[in-house]
Amino acid sequence: MVSDIIEKALNHQIRIEAESSQIYLAMASWAEVQGFEGVASFMYAHSDEERMHMLKLVKFVNERGGHAEVSDLTKPPVSFGSFKEMFQKLFDHEVMVSQKINELVDITLKEKDYATHNFLQWYVAEQIEEEALARTILDKINLIGDDKGGLYLFDNDVKLLVTNPGPEVE
Ligand code: FEO
Repeated sequence: MVSDIIEKALNHQIRIEAESSQIYLAMASWAEVQGFEGVASFMYAHSDEERMHMLKLVKFVNERGGHAEVSDLTKPPVSFGSFKEMFQKLFDHEVMVSQKINELVDITLKEKDYATHNFLQWYVAEQIEEEALARTILDKINLIGDDKGGLYLFDNDVKLLVTNPGPEVE
């Protein structure tokens, strides 16, 4: 059984993951209309992954006797300036998510909720990978700068980047 404090904290994380999915969906759409299919498909896949992160939390809260809430979400931006700015935003966003996961883990320890603490270890590991992937992409884009040919190759390249398949949600 989750306590009210844990339920509230997990519901807050559900909202963060849902908003992450929305942000990456907006990035996918923006990249697609610019004609960068590789970046767009990467972002669409990433958006799906965030939805899976959200669903995994929803199922957990309900299984533990809580009630997962679906809240309203903040509207993401429509455009993202340049790819460099967009991937910087993605990296900064993932760092923020990692901080939120760490805060959640901290709450579970204070509440002595070891089941939730154990459940959250998956997210801790996932955030290490997500940050590393975002950093790798950012390094690539920083090398390219505004070179048009480089951006074309980058678009092809990013298609090949393997993202996590995400958790299985039953
Ligand atoms: Fe679900 Fe990318 O954090």
